[in-house]
Amino acid sequence: MTTNPIVDVDHLNVIFDGFYAVRDVSFCVRPGEIFGFLGANGAGKTTTIRVLCGLLPTSSGAVTIDGVRFVRGRENMIKQRVGYMSQRFTLYDELSVRENFDFAAALRAVSPDDYIQRRHDLLKFIGFSRDLSTIVRHLPGGIKQEVALGVALLHDPKIIFLDEPTAGVAPAARMRFWRLIKKLSRQGKTIFVTTHYMDEAENCHRVALMRSGEMIACASPATLKRRTFGDTLMNFTPRRSHVKLPPAGLMDICEPYGRHYHIRFHDGVDRDKMVAKYARDFDIQKISPSLEDVFIRLVEGGEK
Ligand SMILES: Nc1ncnc2c1ncn2[C@@H]1O[C@H](COP(=O)(O)OP(=O)(O)OP(=O)(O)O)[C@@H](O)[C@H]1O
Ligand SMILES: [Mg+2]
Repeated sequence: MTTNPIVDVDHLNVIFDGFYAVRDVSFCVRPGEIFGFLGANGAGKTTTIRVLCGLLPTSSGAVTIDGVRFVRGRENMIKQRVGYMSQRFTLYDELSVRENFDFAAALRAVSPDDYIQRRHDLLKFIGFSRDLSTIVRHLPGGIKQEVALGVALLHDPKIIFLDEPTAGVAPAARMRFWRLIKKLSRQGKTIFVTTHYMDEAENCHRVALMRSGEMIACASPATLKRRTFGDTLMNFTPRRSHVKLPPAGLMDICEPYGRHYHIRFHDGVDRDKMVAKYARDFDIQKISPSLEDVFIRLVEGGEK
């Protein structure tokens, strides 16, 4: 496998009427990687994806996908090489599953010789067991997204961009969808995916965090957790109601999770002393942070 990146973005800016939707963003994605693109609403995720799929021109910066460097005005060249599941529109609701595949085959110029076999393989891959003449509107949300994935893979792109593919999908179906993503990655496909579900993002090889158009971090989930928290995060579970938390001034993190609190004391605070002091009121354990902790700290924390 080549070690050249399949996506190479260098100082990308996307400006709408003076507003920077994407500001000075640089990153690479390696072949076969599951690359998670995370950030709050309006952070610039969809805008970046639209650029990388050749649907939106850059304002400045260089983009290379699969060895093809984008030239302003000729972004079209890349469309054939990438798969794209957009955030709002995935399939034609009033058409059948078969008609949606037919339409994509025509749009992507899939040869008639390959088409039927390819469709058969993809339907098998997603585990589709219904009638092909089912109207998409009648499919459950999770299955619709799986069909949309199949349609986006019809022309066999090396890289596929999935913009919130599991938004509004039930938990079991979300897990099923992620099993497909991991299978695609094992087959060597590159997956560029956005999600607001941090449990899903844990499955990514690397994640990038976007905030207000800027990329504020890009690393593996384990590295991000280590960098953000070291081993200093603790879980405080109140032993009874109405117990008092440590003074706010001593903590730089105090996030409620149900009836627990994830707490980190400022660097200068003696943690052992704190644990001893609060052990009567709280059950206290050191914990490994989740990506949710990282996200709250880096993304949402910075926007407060
Ligand atoms: N065509 C456009 N014209 C003007 N502003 C735009 C345009 N497209 C996006 N924006 C703005 O750019 C910013 C980034 O939008 P974008 O859709 O990329 O965010 P996002 O990270 O995908 O958010 P979400 O999680 O809600 O999907 C937003 O402030 C949005 O309003
Ligand atoms: Mg979006």
